[in-house]
Amino acid sequence: MNRVGSATAGIDPKLLARFRDARVLVVGDVMLDRYWFGEVSRISPEAPVPVVKVERSDERPGGAANVARNAAALGAKVALLSVVGDDEAGSTLNRLLATDGIEARLHRDPTIATTVKLRVIGRQQQLLRIDFETPPSHEVLANKLVEFRTLLSGYDVLILSDYGKGGLTHVAEMIQAGRAAGKTVLVDPKGDDYSRYRGATMVTPNRGELREVVGRWKSEDDLAARAERLRAELELDALLVTRSEEGMTLFQPGARVHEPTKAQEVYDVSGAGDTVIAALGVALGAGISLPLAVRIANYAAGIVVGKLGTAVVHPDELAAALAAAS
Ligand SMILES: Nc1ncnc2c1ncn2[C@@H]1O[C@H](COP(=O)(O)OP(=O)(O)OP(=O)(O)O)[C@@H](O)[C@H]1O
Ligand SMILES: [Mg+2]
Repeated sequence: MNRVGSATAGIDPKLLARFRDARVLVVGDVMLDRYWFGEVSRISPEAPVPVVKVERSDERPGGAANVARNAAALGAKVALLSVVGDDEAGSTLNRLLATDGIEARLHRDPTIATTVKLRVIGRQQQLLRIDFETPPSHEVLANKLVEFRTLLSGYDVLILSDYGKGGLTHVAEMIQAGRAAGKTVLVDPKGDDYSRYRGATMVTPNRGELREVVGRWKSEDDLAARAERLRAELELDALLVTRSEEGMTLFQPGARVHEPTKAQEVYDVSGAGDTVIAALGVALGAGISLPLAVRIANYAAGIVVGKLGTAVVHPDELAAALAAAS
């Protein structure tokens, strides 16, 4: 175990002020999380289903857009490169991201619908979720890759947020270009083919995602052996496994650092992984060392799971949590 310093959980609070210097470019699959709330007072005459009279709605940026939102809330300068449809949901995402101070570079693909997850909520429960999604076209993805190459020089950290919707078709080229330009490249992975992530600085699977590629582990040592094998095979500097209520473990060549969760209360764990990779990106972009960045990300995740809905963490909340821990 790595113990660093003594003040505020080993983290000098002055480090948090450096977050403003971080410049983070997020690329990945964006989506719009939409909620329709209403009253249910009768069953439909057309089919045995409830009729919901919608009274209120709510919308939040999801996926890579939630990563960008989390990085901006921590104080970083953030750009987001992605693809949406030429539709109302795409415009809504653009507007929400602008409100959060994010430079949204959303390529409009007229042949697709923006990814939307619509939840219909009545009587305090989710009655139905409706998903709209189509993979972006080759032409739009190629244009996006061209813009990626021109944007890259203005950022220190590249976060690739893969939600498996097709927006990261060119992930291997992006990692290669990022590393060649000396950038820190972080990947939140999806699927069972991690060869696409070869050469990244760090990949951040959760337990289930890691299990999908290395199989089930029988002990901590077994996990460490499997994680190290994967890290070496993919030529990563580090592998971070996020482990829900168990916190997270960082694997670097010959070293393993475990951070137990700092969550006090758990209300909503959705989006915790987005907060983790955003906080890592911001901390590394601010020049903070990897083990300390992981510790900061773990505190940020501990705060965000105590909030309802996919939420963000602000530097003052992080400072308070660190101070309370010391
Ligand atoms: N149930 C929980 N109790 C305590 N801490 C939690 C819990 N769930 C998540 N966390 C914190 O959040 C971090 C990230 O969570 P997790 O490993 O579940 O990521 P994830 O599955 O990618 O999340 P998501 O996909 O919902 O965004 C954990 O490392 C931990 O610090
Ligand atoms: Mg995740």
